[in-house]
Amino acid sequence: DWVRATADREVVLASPRSFCAGVERAIDIVAASLDKFEGPVYVRRQIVHNRHVVAELEAKGAIFVEEVEEVPEGSVVVLAAHGVTPTVRQDAAARHLRVVDATCPLVTKVHNEVRRFAGLDHTVFLIGHADHEEVVGTYGEAPGNVVIVEGPDEAMTVEATDPAKVSYVMQTTLAVDEAEKTATILRERFPALSAPRKDDICYATTNRQQAVRAVARDSDLVIVLGSRNSSNSQRLVEVARGEGTPAYLVDDLSEVDLGWLYGAGRIGLTAGASAPPHLVDEVVAGLAGLGRLDVHQTEVVSESVRFTLPREVISEVIREK
Ligand code: F3S
Repeated sequence: DWVRATADREVVLASPRSFCAGVERAIDIVAASLDKFEGPVYVRRQIVHNRHVVAELEAKGAIFVEEVEEVPEGSVVVLAAHGVTPTVRQDAAARHLRVVDATCPLVTKVHNEVRRFAGLDHTVFLIGHADHEEVVGTYGEAPGNVVIVEGPDEAMTVEATDPAKVSYVMQTTLAVDEAEKTATILRERFPALSAPRKDDICYATTNRQQAVRAVARDSDLVIVLGSRNSSNSQRLVEVARGEGTPAYLVDDLSEVDLGWLYGAGRIGLTAGASAPPHLVDEVVAGLAGLGRLDVHQTEVVSESVRFTLPREVISEVIREK
């Protein structure tokens, strides 16, 4: 296979790719917490949906748990970027935990919308994947009002308590086109439907999908770096396949199958918002080891979004300096 796979080829890097502002912030929060707090730092669930990120933070000393019940009373716990249902905060308070919230501000925005619409007594259609942690958290803001709508088929049949009081919100990491289709059906069925003031699918999801689409069109193969449970990484694979290009999701170079490379002169490469940039570099280096390689980048939009760290972590920094 190594001989078959050895050839001249081209790699086109999709841009933007890899870490978004919310993921960078979440990772920085764990790192800052490890620096600033005495004693162990616990993290509830995967801080972001990437195996490598979790392993790297674990190596620095972070202790990952599934539920706050596993965290000793009085300890520090970081809540993951996807956000949590309010009962998790109550459970943490009951255990006197010191909570550091790494929920992405763009996820918090969706939680706030749900609370606002629920406060108006609306049925709130939440467009998203029912089993995804972010959706579980958002749903929990108003379980009596929220109805999860997974896609266009469900949009066709869902009902509202009062069709005059309806609104919708979305998971931040959906496939832009399909989510828009779902929203359109809801809009047609419920003319009174209120929408969020600004799109819920975040800038990073939108930009990475646009970038991979641009690259997939002219590639023989697309490789997406990301973990299986990363929603936005999976969507990148789907968008690439939608352009008629074979596409695969890999956690790192070790999962790249040499059989895929056979006959693939031009390879598109990208990474989900939770996948570290060094994984991309490693795949490029691996491909370069197989023969002559030209590397280009196609940038569809440049990103400058940055989020500040939460007060708990910042104030600690200031106090100590
Ligand atoms: Fe936030 Fe979007 Fe990243 S919601 S965590 S900026 S993928």
